[in-house]
Amino acid sequence: MSQTDSAEFIAGYPLKAHNTFGFDVRAQWACRIEREAQLMTAVRDPRAAGLPRLVLGGGSNVVLTGDFAGLVLLVALRGRRIVSEDADAVYVEAAAGEPWHEFVAWTLSQGLPGLENLALIPGTVGAAPIQNIGAYGLEMGERFASLRAVELATGEAVEFDARACAFGYRDSFFKREGRDRFVITSVTFRLPKAWEPRAGYADLARELAANGFEANGKQPDAQAIFDAVVAVRRKKLPDPLELGNAGSFFKNPVIDAGQFEALKSREPDVASYAQPDGRVKLAAGWLIDRCGWKGRAMGAAAVHERQALVLVNRGGASGAEVLALAQAIQRDVLARFGVELEAEPVCL
Ligand code: EPU
Repeated sequence: MSQTDSAEFIAGYPLKAHNTFGFDVRAQWACRIEREAQLMTAVRDPRAAGLPRLVLGGGSNVVLTGDFAGLVLLVALRGRRIVSEDADAVYVEAAAGEPWHEFVAWTLSQGLPGLENLALIPGTVGAAPIQNIGAYGLEMGERFASLRAVELATGEAVEFDARACAFGYRDSFFKREGRDRFVITSVTFRLPKAWEPRAGYADLARELAANGFEANGKQPDAQAIFDAVVAVRRKKLPDPLELGNAGSFFKNPVIDAGQFEALKSREPDVASYAQPDGRVKLAAGWLIDRCGWKGRAMGAAAVHERQALVLVNRGGASGAEVLALAQAIQRDVLARFGVELEAEPVCL
């Protein structure tokens, strides 16, 4: 083992700064991973033998309900580069620990549009494929080329293409079967040279119109879309540094056409999006809002005042308090609309 592969074990490591809810919990052990080779050194260390593992990037999609009796791998791999180009696209690669938003801004500074709709999403590049991050009319999977991941059981680095990642709405192989088995170390994106603005999402279209861009008139460039997405997100979504949160706490539920018709006849203004397969996606935020939860608190856990889909830590809340609030919301939405809400973050 070379000196550079060694991994420093830190006992009783505080995780408050490593989860965007800001829960004040500790890990039995933590290792900061700055080089890929350190991963295997860490998991093969006798101190980690038999212990559960948790991979943390930005900690923006996790609910830590207590101290973690195991090994936390803090992914701090850095670096980004233009890899190659062909007639149709440019390929860019970023290490898993790169902050997502900074990476998006960097691609634009390189004259490479394509990720601008995903501006200001908290977290790291390596976390992006796990839940296939999406916002304002774009999902990461649409710009994905491949990723590299280390299989912890074997130490082998494996390349995954989009098919192997099995991307779905806020879902992938890595959120299911691949969970705890692989650590994503870098991601390569395919940015098409034929760029077109993706500006149809209602909130985004409104912001662009207010900035002088119109659907049939002056067209926004990628920077204008980036700026508009940042502005919309700042209006609606709390900054985790100011108010702990993990973005949307629930997925938007998808129901079948029959159930939707019945619901629509009772609730004519229900917010919904028709899906390609004939089913209908509902806005969970609307359902929660309609149940009267927006802005309400249970202890130090609360529903955000401007977006009911976001649960926040008003200060000193525990993960258990947030989960209790989430369950109360789920019960109400089920009772009133007959719809089950599924949590989006990983709850531990
Ligand atoms: N709505 C309400 N009340 C609310 C919130 C929303 O009535 O409190 C209504 C809105 O008026 C709108 C509809 O619900 O008609 C949808 O709201 P919004 O446009 O804010 O988007 P969302 O469906 O609530 C999703 C993503 C967000 C993403 C936005 C924009 C999920 C679970 N959430 O939210 O993603 O930023 O669309 O694309 O898909 C995240 O995943 O962490 C996240 C923030």
